[in-house]
Amino acid sequence: MPKSPSGALLQGFTIERDSSVPIYRQLDASLRRLILDGSLPPGQKLPSTRELAQELGISRITVKNVYEQIISEGYAQAKTGAGTFVADGLDTEAFPQIRTPRHKDKPSGIEISSRARTIAASKSTARYGEVAPFRPGVPALDQFPVKLWNKYMAEAMVRDMRSSLSYGQVNGNADLREAIARHLADARGMKVNAERVIVTSGAQQAFVLIAFVLLNHGDTVWYENPGHIAGRDVMQTMGANVAPVQVDSEGLDLAQAIKRHPKPALIFTTPSHQQPLGTTMSLGRRLALLSYAQENNTWIIEDDYDSEFRYRGRPLPALSALDSAQRVFYVGTFSKSMFAAMRLGYVVVPQEFAETFAAARNLLGQNSSAVVEETMARFMEDGRFTEHIRKMRRLYRTRRDVLYEALCRDCSAWLEPQWTDAGMHMVAWLKGGIDDQAAHEALLAAGIESLPISLYCIESLERTALVLGFSGVDERIIPRLVERLAKILKELAGAGAG
Ligand SMILES: Cc1ncc(COP(=O)(O)O)c(C=O)c1O
Repeated sequence: MPKSPSGALLQGFTIERDSSVPIYRQLDASLRRLILDGSLPPGQKLPSTRELAQELGISRITVKNVYEQIISEGYAQAKTGAGTFVADGLDTEAFPQIRTPRHKDKPSGIEISSRARTIAASKSTARYGEVAPFRPGVPALDQFPVKLWNKYMAEAMVRDMRSSLSYGQVNGNADLREAIARHLADARGMKVNAERVIVTSGAQQAFVLIAFVLLNHGDTVWYENPGHIAGRDVMQTMGANVAPVQVDSEGLDLAQAIKRHPKPALIFTTPSHQQPLGTTMSLGRRLALLSYAQENNTWIIEDDYDSEFRYRGRPLPALSALDSAQRVFYVGTFSKSMFAAMRLGYVVVPQEFAETFAAARNLLGQNSSAVVEETMARFMEDGRFTEHIRKMRRLYRTRRDVLYEALCRDCSAWLEPQWTDAGMHMVAWLKGGIDDQAAHEALLAAGIESLPISLYCIESLERTALVLGFSGVDERIIPRLVERLAKILKELAGAGAG
């Protein structure tokens, strides 16, 4: 009977805990590589799931799921009572170019510059690739009126071809900027002229532009902890000293930030619906924050990413609506209210910055498409945008209710879901010392994509939690998914994965 690999061979399994690539994907890739490059030859016995999990310090469920996957794809075979073996008859000679990289081999870019090092440490790639249920922030994409959008898009292509098929305007389509200004007046209580609206390719480009224009290397940025992952990564990459500020029941804790951190050049906040905790910033805190910014010559980024979705009462106006001194850069996105692939968002800048931001947008490559901008302008002008949001709000409210009820019913031993009146996700606090990263890995391997709250943190919190997106999951399958989630958490709690 062939022996399972040990010692040197086990070193071929490269797992990097700090990587943004989930552990189960890393293990899966290692195994395939070792099989294809012949390090694990046909007929070779694989280590038992217990042995490999212990050796790598990861959950056994993760190893089990990866083994099942490679068996189903024909890389390996399970033999009852004997274990798992590399499949017989694989012609690995067909892959002579594949070599197993050793742990010490670093991607070459990392040594190039300090910026390359920060980029390599970035954690914000979770939004790419195939979308699995409960990934936070995903709209009901199957409910998007695609035919209608295509009609608007087709019209936009030919309306004014000399303009819309070229680069468009330096600060974005004028009609779209007007439509956005009107929308902000109606929905967010903001009085802004369209000159202050700069169209971007999503909120992320707005953060890049703000950091690019405003920050000098080493400047301090106060950042909500937990907070939006991709925005934080941008600030760090631009060389800022990103200082974590706790969030209390009134939102970003201003008094604590003043006490703990140097004066900031920039403050990043999500006042309407704190990302990810869901807190709405109190009026008192808003006024205090604005006067702090004015007195200390500091700028504020208000990330208003999902304020369209509020399920009770009228939304509080944006922080920006109270900003008579123009200290706030208000950032909006169509990624949640429409769909992320359109890559459209905007930033409302203080008047004095309008020209600089338009120039910076050009320097950094514009990114949004003039055709999509034109399409969106007409979509908004004709009331289609408001209509779509209204429909989605009703749908997401139902999905929120179904998820909350299912979590309370099936997961109360391991999770304490936190009720939310807004947004597209729900925070569920883990009980019994279950580690959120381990839970995330095990769930991901089983096709469920909640995010661990630790991913949103610079400083860890006292409790761990999972962030579960409900907006993109059909309410009819939520109960079944929650049953699966409960089963996995139970296994994790039993295996002492805390
Ligand atoms: C807090 C927050 N802000 C902004 C965004 C939107 O990013 P973008 O508009 O670049 O898609 C997201 C999406 O993940 C988010 O979670």
